[in-house]
Amino acid sequence: MAERSPTLQAFLDVLETTILDVSDAGSDHARVTKKTFAALTEPGPQTPRLRTENPACTHIQPVLDTARNVRSVKALATAFRALEPEIAWSARADRKTGDPNFPNAHATGMIIGDGGLEARQDLRMGASLLAPNTFYPNHQHPPEEVYIALTPGHWRQEAGPWREPGIGGLVYNPPNIIHAMQSGASALLAIWMLPPG
Ligand SMILES: [Fe+2]
Repeated sequence: MAERSPTLQAFLDVLETTILDVSDAGSDHARVTKKTFAALTEPGPQTPRLRTENPACTHIQPVLDTARNVRSVKALATAFRALEPEIAWSARADRKTGDPNFPNAHATGMIIGDGGLEARQDLRMGASLLAPNTFYPNHQHPPEEVYIALTPGHWRQEAGPWREPGIGGLVYNPPNIIHAMQSGASALLAIWMLPPG
């Protein structure tokens, strides 16, 4: 059986605890988190990465400093900081906006799944980063999804209103729903997971 790196395991443990602590017992947030972590009990193939970055990554450390002052996400921000030097951040070439700076203003860091630290096909987990005042365009995917926000930021589903979960807040996206994100005056950093089908 593959052995998971202690840094990744520590991050996963804190992520699970943090989300379950802030979610209601019967919520979709809790259900998706439990489903994801039940699958993660069995480690997949470990695929160490050399860290890569783009200009948006200059925002990571400052927003983690802020998150570490917020009690509900202090441990998660600390565990993510420890894991972050292993993450290969990159811009998503398949996401298009009218903003010519968009490729330099966002980055995705895969944690679990293709391009991540644990290559497996049954589920995906990663981090999304937006520089201040950046719009991340509409997208959709068959798996449902849970985000936990480590910063302020706005989320939208279909043509609905923008919502602000706040630091430590959660977002649930049902399967295939169209959704988008938008940062305000500060950068947006959030961890997301797509559970097994
Ligand atoms: Fe998504």
